[in-house]
Order: sequence, then structure tokens, then C-alpha cells
Amino acid sequence: MGNLCKKLMMLLHSRLTLTALIFAGILGMGMACNKKETSGEGSFNPTPMVFVKPINLPEPTYNFTTEQPTKEGFALGRKLFYDERLSDDNTISCGSCHKASAAFADPGVALSPGVRKQVGIRNSTTIMNVAWNADFFWDGRATHLNDQPISPIHNPLEMNESIANVVKKIKDDATYKSMFYKAYGTDVVDSVKILKSLGMFMAFANSYNSKFDRVQRNENSEKFTVTEQEGYVVFIKKCDPCHKGHLFTDNKFHINGLPPTDAKDSGRFVITRNINDLYLFKTPSLRNILYTAPYMHDGRFNTLDEVFTHYTKNAGLEVTNADRTRLKAFLATLTDSTFLNNKDFADPGN
Ligand code: HEC
Ligand code: HEC
Repeated sequence: MGNLCKKLMMLLHSRLTLTALIFAGILGMGMACNKKETSGEGSFNPTPMVFVKPINLPEPTYNFTTEQPTKEGFALGRKLFYDERLSDDNTISCGSCHKASAAFADPGVALSPGVRKQVGIRNSTTIMNVAWNADFFWDGRATHLNDQPISPIHNPLEMNESIANVVKKIKDDATYKSMFYKAYGTDVVDSVKILKSLGMFMAFANSYNSKFDRVQRNENSEKFTVTEQEGYVVFIKKCDPCHKGHLFTDNKFHINGLPPTDAKDSGRFVITRNINDLYLFKTPSLRNILYTAPYMHDGRFNTLDEVFTHYTKNAGLEVTNADRTRLKAFLATLTDSTFLNNKDFADPGN
């Protein structure tokens, strides 16, 4: 039936001289074919999801042109992100360790538990402006957003599952089949589309509507207070060399003076095996920093004051008491409540 439909439709396209009678007959058939193809699945007519680059940020690294994100792909990624079936015992989802209301960090938790309450050695990062990342994780072990989810799924301490088995678990689920159809025109669930959809979801988890952004873009003539402005001056001098520009990260690897308390974690060295990379970690963004404590790759600091004490003591970046007040006021302008409260990123309820 499918083949016959195709042949008839091709004929319709190629033979423009057909009589009105045949034409009408084929057209009716064509419509019937169409109906058959979409019955029970909904129609395949995905809506492109447009990315508009904010004027104060550079070009992203995620390629919105070739990835062609759609509302349907995003919805599928969102469902997968909150689905516990991505873990071996069906108890842990990506959202268990990454909370949307905290820029996808895990607030108050130094080391997020994975399956069977196991813990690793690293603090959950934010998932925020990852469309601008060239490297992912504290050590940069993934270099494309669509490859990144393989790591937590396979990690024995996190989800301890294989992507092939995830496919097995969800491939006959009627909701997923319908969502795959709507996003990709096929109800066959496969790992590439799972990863691509998670990538689409995360590529839109972007923060660029804080007071800082409005001031920089001169929106509504918003201005910094005197203390915030003084904080920005201190920040540019002491922190911007690594927490660079409007992304607040240079996306590079540094040692920020932290004494390695845990020799098990040698940072970037784990990936490169280059001795110069020992104890280097990727500079985290400081956007929404008031919501993402505890801080550093192992969550060792609970407050910004502890962070300032660290920089003063270990990194030769003296943060005076007056500077602390100024920096705190400035860092508070990086809170983006539009992003933190965006219901599009919340658990859709599986
Ligand atoms: C058990 C907790 C846990 C689970 C489950 C988990 N993550 Fe993570 N995630 C982390 C930790 C911890 C890190 C930092 C790890 C590191 O750098 O080695 C991280 C890092 C990331 C990053 C890197 C962000 C950046 O800026 O470099 C992304 C993206 C991410 N996770 C997405 C996901 C996705 C998608 C899933 C589900 C498939 C997931 N995570 C499941 C704990 C978790
Ligand atoms: C030499 C580069 C460099 C400079 C300068 C620097 N930082 Fe950092 N910062 C880093 C790196 C790298 C990390 C992650 C280190 C780790 O976890 O091992 C970090 C982590 C942080 C964190 C924790 C963020 C999180 O999500 O866990 C805060 C807060 C912070 N820095 C604030 C500052 C402030 C404030 C200044 C200026 C006084 C500053 N930094 C100067 C490189 C730097």
C-alpha cells in the first residue's frame, strides 16, 4: 500500500497532462494515503524553533542551522531529560541532579547521588548557555552537546545504563512513539535521535536576561547602583581574566589556586594525560551564582564569602571587606529570574 501510494504520488508530480478524471482519482488516493500514514501518530509537520542570538553574546558553538531544532524535538528532549528510565534501576533522571530552578545545578548538594545512592567526586554543573561551550564537564571530556549525555548514562555512579538498553525500554511506549514521529517523521526510537533531542533541549537552556544584561543592552535605561558598578570594576580587574565577558567564562581550563584536597581528581589531566594539565578545571560561568551553591568542582565551599577567602588566601587576589560587599552586589545582578522560572524547562510529568 505504501509503495503504491508513493508511485501514484510520483505520477501525480511527473504527469501534468493527466486527464481531470485520473487527476481527481489520484488526488483522492493521495489524500487517503496521507491519512493512513498519519493515523494514530498525529501529523509530521514539525515547527522550527528559532534561536535569536542576544546582542551582547558571541556566536554560539552549537550549530542551530545544521541541528535544525524544532518544538517537537525540544519537547522530546525535555521528556527524556526527566525520564528515570535512563538509569538502570529506573530511579534517576538527568533532572535528579540538574534542577531547572537553579540553572540546572543541584543546589545544596556537594556531590549528587546517582543510582543506589552512590556518589562521585564532582559537583553537578549548571546546564546554562551550553550552546556556547566548546568543551563539556569540569575536565572537558565531551566536545559536542549531542555526545555529552552518553557520559552520565554510562557512568556506573550516575545512571549505570547503556543507551541501547534505554532504547529497548522506551521503544514500545506509545507516547514516545508518537513524539518521535512528530519530531522526526518516524516512530522508530533510536539512540542518535535520543541524544539529538536531549541536545535540542539543553541548547535552549540559556540565560541572558539578568539585570546585568539589561544594563549592558541599555534596556529600559536600566542602570547599576553605585555599589554594583564598583563591584563590576573590581570584577573586571580580578575575576574577568578567567570569568570572561558576558558568558562569565573563557571556557578554558585553569588552576584557580585551590589546594588539591583530593589527589583522586587531577582534573583536565585525566583527559589529556599532559602533566601541564594537572589539577586544571574548566572555568564555570558565574551567572545565577546566588542559586548554585555549593561551589567549585567538588562543592567544597558553601558561601561566596568562603570563595572570596579562598581567592585572597590561595590565589593572590586580595578581596578586601569593602570588595566583598561590592562583588556580592555585582554578582547579584547576574540572577536571571526569567530563566530560573521558565516553565518550559520544568518536568513535564512523565
Ligand atoms: C548523578 C547525578 C547526575 C546525573 C543523573 C546527570 N548528571 Fe549531568 N552532571 C553531573 C555532574 C556531577 C557533572 C559534572 C561532572 C564532571 O565534570 O565530571 C555533570 C555535568 C553535566 C553537563 C556539563 C555542563 C557543562 O557546562 O560542561 C551537562 C550538559 C550535563 N551534565 C547533562 C546531563 C544530562 C543530559 C543527563 C541525563 C542524560 C545528566 N547530566 C545526568 C551530575 C549528573
Ligand atoms: C585564573 C583564573 C580565575 C580567576 C582569576 C578567577 N577564577 Fe573563579 N574560578 C576559576 C576556575 C578554574 C574555577 C573552578 C575551579 C575548581 O573547581 O577547581 C573557578 C570557580 C569559581 C567559583 C565557583 C563557581 C561554581 O559554580 O562552582 C566562583 C564563585 C568564582 N570562581 C568566583 C571568582 C571571583 C569572584 C573571582 C575574582 C575575585 C575569580 N573567581 C577569579 C578560575 C578563575
